[in-house]
Amino acid sequence: MSSTPAPILVSSRNPEEYRAFFALTSADLACRVLDCSAGAAGFAAAVNAAGGDVTAVDPVYSDLDALRLEVERSAADGVAIIDAHDSRFTWGWYGSRERRQALRDDARSAFLADLAAHPETYVVGGLPALPFDDDAFDLALCSHLLFTWADVFDAEWHRAALRELLRVAPEVRVFPLVRQGAGEPVEFLPALLEELRTEGRTAEVRKVGYEFQIGADEMLVLRR
Ligand SMILES: C[S@@+](CC[C@H](N)C(=O)[O-])C[C@H]1O[C@@H](n2cnc3c(N)ncnc32)[C@H](O)[C@@H]1O
Repeated sequence: MSSTPAPILVSSRNPEEYRAFFALTSADLACRVLDCSAGAAGFAAAVNAAGGDVTAVDPVYSDLDALRLEVERSAADGVAIIDAHDSRFTWGWYGSRERRQALRDDARSAFLADLAAHPETYVVGGLPALPFDDDAFDLALCSHLLFTWADVFDAEWHRAALRELLRVAPEVRVFPLVRQGAGEPVEFLPALLEELRTEGRTAEVRKVGYEFQIGADEMLVLRR
C-alpha cells in the first residue's frame, strides 16, 4: 500500500443509493436528518423536494467555485478507482456501469441545482466538530467518509467523529465499513465498537441490501 493517502473524493451518490446503504424507511425520511460529509450527493435535494428535512454538512461548501471543479474531477477519479480494483466490485445492484453512471450524473445535477436554489441546506463544517447544537437532528447519516478513508483518518479521529455525530443526533448510521479501493477491513473497527459499547452506547453492524465493493454490505447503527 502506498504511504501517501489518496485525496478524499467529493462524490455524488444518488438518493436511491442512500436508501439502500442506510435501509431508510419513510419514517426515517420524515425526521430531521443530517447528511454528514454530504459532498455532492443528491440526497438532500431529493428528500427536501419531497417535503423532508435534510441538512447537508461538508467542509467543501466553503469554496463553491473550487467545489464545482472538485465534483467533476471526483466523478472521473471514482471511475478510475473502480477500474484499478475491478475484481473487487460486483455490479448486481447497479445492473451495469451505465446505470451507475446515470445515477451519479442525475445526483450531481440535482445537487448543483439545489445548492444554487437552497444554499441554506448546505452548511460548511466538518468532523470531529460540527456546527450544530446537541440533538439538532433525529438521525445522522455518514456515507463514504468514516472507515472508507481510514488511510487518511486514524482510530482516534474516528472515535471523536462518532461521538460528535452522537452528540447532534441520537442515532447514527455509517456506510460502508471497509476502506476505499480494494475494500480492505479497518483493523481498529472492532475495538472501537467495543469501546462505544463499554460507554453504554448501542453499536450494531447490520447487513443492508446493497453491495458494490465485494463484502461491503454492512452499515453501522449507533445509538446513545
Ligand atoms: C467520498 S465523499 C462522499 C460524499 C457523499 N456522502 C456521497 O456518498 O456521495 C467524502 C466527503 O467527505 C468530505 N469530508 C472530508 N473531510 C471531512 C470532515 N472532516 N468532516 C466531514 N466531511 C468531510 C469530503 O469533502 C467529501 O465530500
